[in-house]
Amino acid sequence: MSSRTRILESLREVIDPELGLSIIDLGLVKKVEVSGDLVEVGVDLTIPGCPLKEQIRREVEEAVRKAMPKARLELTLGALSAEELDRLKRRLGAQKSQAIGSRGGSGPGAEPGPAGPGATAGKLTGNAGGINLLAKKVPHVVAVGSGKGGVGKSSVTAQLACALVREGHPTGILDADITGPSIARIFGTEERPRVKEGEGDVLVPVETRSGVRVLSMNLLLGDEKAPVIWRGPLINGAIRQLYANAAWEGLEYLLVDMPPGTGDATLTIYQSLPLDGVVIVTTPQSLVGMIVAKSLGMAKTLRVPVLGLVENLAYVQIPERRDPYYLFGPLLGARTAEEHGVPYWGSLPVDPAVALACDEGRIHELDPPAFRAFARRLAGEEGGR
Ligand SMILES: Nc1ncnc2c1ncn2[C@@H]1O[C@H](COP(=O)(O)OP(=O)(O)O)[C@@H](O)[C@H]1O
Ligand SMILES: [Mg+2]
Repeated sequence: MSSRTRILESLREVIDPELGLSIIDLGLVKKVEVSGDLVEVGVDLTIPGCPLKEQIRREVEEAVRKAMPKARLELTLGALSAEELDRLKRRLGAQKSQAIGSRGGSGPGAEPGPAGPGATAGKLTGNAGGINLLAKKVPHVVAVGSGKGGVGKSSVTAQLACALVREGHPTGILDADITGPSIARIFGTEERPRVKEGEGDVLVPVETRSGVRVLSMNLLLGDEKAPVIWRGPLINGAIRQLYANAAWEGLEYLLVDMPPGTGDATLTIYQSLPLDGVVIVTTPQSLVGMIVAKSLGMAKTLRVPVLGLVENLAYVQIPERRDPYYLFGPLLGARTAEEHGVPYWGSLPVDPAVALACDEGRIHELDPPAFRAFARRLAGEEGGR
């Protein structure tokens, strides 16, 4: 066997962490050239600036070393062109049933099968852009993201879900912020999700007093305070399972409380859940830096529509003052939204009642008009689709 063939064979073992298929089978290996002990390898990633780049680099290096221990490797990581990506997506669409489950194994790292009633294998669904391997089981899946933590993403997700239920839309929340899950606490539930046994066990989301159905990693693990320290691929697998192996059917909206930032869990959600789009939560302070621009940029790169920008903790309404008090100066949200061509939903005050309701698990007792408006905006905007 020639060195080149050995290297190609070895590279077949490198699995794209997002898609669960070999980088050879995906056609991502663009070049393998061997001259003497010099080995030149070119691999294209599915998106430029892929957060999983370093993992792929390491695995390619290892694979080459395994095939040819003395190799001097020159590895070039590029990115597929838009046309190549489209072609790959079409091919994956046709192969989806084989693609899912190809990693085998079990536990949170394993790929979920297209389990659950209503999960239809064999067709690519969801947003206009990313590579969606998971089928649509709810008419509207909407992610809620933020550039950084602590901006109120979970409390906004929770209040938006409550408002959607009040407006007559059955809604659930998938708490995908696996490193800091807080949805169960905000809704005051500690109930473990049931497992509906049958053809592939299916998790049944917990119904909270608000009517919102939730599924959160900490409800599965039992100890709400235990931090979840997992490697990326495990987290990605867990997020997909919370979507694919759960009985979300019957809902009209599924909100996904995303991890903050633009890391690989965010990438998984953008690429593998059939999203209508994302609502970005921010604060006046994080608008100043590049943080929000980065989040908006990632959504744009992956062609996930930004449905709205919400500016939380924007001002204080002091009881004896008529005008709001802008702690951080004039708000930048509307301008930022306009610059990026995304809808600005509005600003929310610092409200001690929100903090208290979240801490005490009584978020459903609040009913701020702003969230009714957000819910109508979401439902209205999507009505025409
Ligand atoms: N508008 C608000 N007014 C007062 N407290 C808020 C508001 N939004 C969020 N909080 C509080 O700030 C903290 C962080 O909010 P959270 O929703 O958990 O943020 P994230 O999910 O972005 O990390 C929580 O204690 C929450 O109750
Ligand atoms: Mg949170």
